[in-house]
Amino acid sequence: MYGREIAPGVRALGAVDWDNRLFDSLIPLPDGTSYNSFLVEGSERTALVDTVEPSHADGFLAQLSKVPRLDYLVSLHAEQDHSGSIPAVLARFPAAQVLCSAKAVPMLESLLGVDPARLRAVADGEEVSLGDRTLRFIATPWMHWPETFSAFLPDAGVLFTCDLFGSHLATSEICCGGDAARVHEAAKRYYAEILMPFRKLVRKNVEKVRALPVRLIAPSHGPAHDRPESILAAYEEWTSDTPKNRAVVAFVSMHQSTRALADRLVEALVTRGVGVERLNLAVTDVGKLAMSLVDAGSIVLGTPTVLNGPHPSAVYAACLVNALKPRAVCAAIVGSYGWKGRAAEVLQSLMPDLEAEWLPPVLSQGLPRPADLAAVDALADAIAARHRARAL
Ligand code: FEO
Repeated sequence: MYGREIAPGVRALGAVDWDNRLFDSLIPLPDGTSYNSFLVEGSERTALVDTVEPSHADGFLAQLSKVPRLDYLVSLHAEQDHSGSIPAVLARFPAAQVLCSAKAVPMLESLLGVDPARLRAVADGEEVSLGDRTLRFIATPWMHWPETFSAFLPDAGVLFTCDLFGSHLATSEICCGGDAARVHEAAKRYYAEILMPFRKLVRKNVEKVRALPVRLIAPSHGPAHDRPESILAAYEEWTSDTPKNRAVVAFVSMHQSTRALADRLVEALVTRGVGVERLNLAVTDVGKLAMSLVDAGSIVLGTPTVLNGPHPSAVYAACLVNALKPRAVCAAIVGSYGWKGRAAEVLQSLMPDLEAEWLPPVLSQGLPRPADLAAVDALADAIAARHRARAL
């Protein structure tokens, strides 16, 4: 037998990447990841949904050596962690045809050198027969590139979603099953890092999924969701326009002045009934910061002034905030300086895409004095008022 059956005539193949700790040289992977592929067998034809990251191609091809025939290779997403082994699979099955979205066609050609004669574009809603069952293609764009599609197998109620609903989690479990809390945490981290920039499009795609009689959601990272309601409800919460009554205070400090401002702000916010996530950027991984931004009603970055600008760790955090576009209602900067104070202005200029109200910064020259601490308290007042006004 090859792979494990997750639904009648659907086998999970692929690779568990237990050791990887950095995805795309960018995203921390505290728990590794997996590259899932699914073999769908019909009475007349067989389809393979997605492949694996090329460094795992050998093991994947060994799994496929037990597959007698392959008619279709479904590419839901052109990114290399799912499509990188397409050339090797096509070499193994010379008659197989790649089914993908129209936008994926030039991507698979340019990124992987796939022969265009092997590519066939499918349309939103198109059905491809495997004999006694069909695969229906569903456009789910920007999950996480513009070309992404999902595929539905109506007879089994299985929806293949690639990155959507995925989690970076290396585990022997093929379904969430008994470890739902762990998968939920990993899925939230995954949403934060990969899909949050497309929040409104994610919401629309979740609505599309809601309209389907789905019994199992099978993403191409992490375990499959055998209780779809749980992950759908979580996504609906993460993608709504209403964040939580929570402030993220993410700071870095060199000589304790910025730390003193941040700690005062944390205390002042808690006193005013605002929940706080306090993150010291010197020791916090960016995935944790990304996750905290999902629920943040407010974002406050703290930085000392290094030469004439913000600390590099604060710059990295600002770039992340700008890229992920969290749904926070307001934002601010606190910080310190020795002799010149342009750090806040430079840092704010790095976040032009953050659609939040900017509150006035609080900057102290060296260690905060009473007037600086009073300004921090006033900032806490303003944040609490914005949260109340939005009923967070
Ligand atoms: Fe898992 Fe966007 O690739």
